[in-house]
Amino acid sequence: MAIRSIVKLPNVSLRKPSVDVSADELQEKNLQAFIDDLKETMRSADGVGIAAPQVGVHQRIIIVNHAGKPQAYVNARIVSKSVRSVDSEEGCLSVPGVFGIVKRSRAVTVEALTREGKPVTLKLKGFPAIVFQHEIDHTNGILFIDKVVKYTVPPAL
Ligand code: CO
Repeated sequence: MAIRSIVKLPNVSLRKPSVDVSADELQEKNLQAFIDDLKETMRSADGVGIAAPQVGVHQRIIIVNHAGKPQAYVNARIVSKSVRSVDSEEGCLSVPGVFGIVKRSRAVTVEALTREGKPVTLKLKGFPAIVFQHEIDHTNGILFIDKVVKYTVPPAL
């Protein structure tokens, strides 16, 4: 297992959308090893979530702490979201030292594959719902700073 280096702003590769992982790719040893690396990278950076493009890999893979442990979700998409929103204070491993308030949906339903290729539907609310929204945004080239309504720790000039 290897810890990957985290891509940070102003690197524009964070803006590139990721592509789906195919069922065949998911069975490859290299891809499974990459998922382990991504998990380890998140753990070593003390993150609550991480997305593959944050280590320069533009495939739709995210790791989220769920039910007490880091789990991989592949091709994750939000299929429905609540009308009600919540204010969430966020930061990002790719935007170090910056924090701000973002409006997120209070609840979301996510469809994804597990790393074994099993389809799952997750009905999420509260903190997990927010982490999934943040990480799925990464796979679309979107960063939390794009949605900040108010900085709590603004970027240095
Ligand atoms: Co982030």
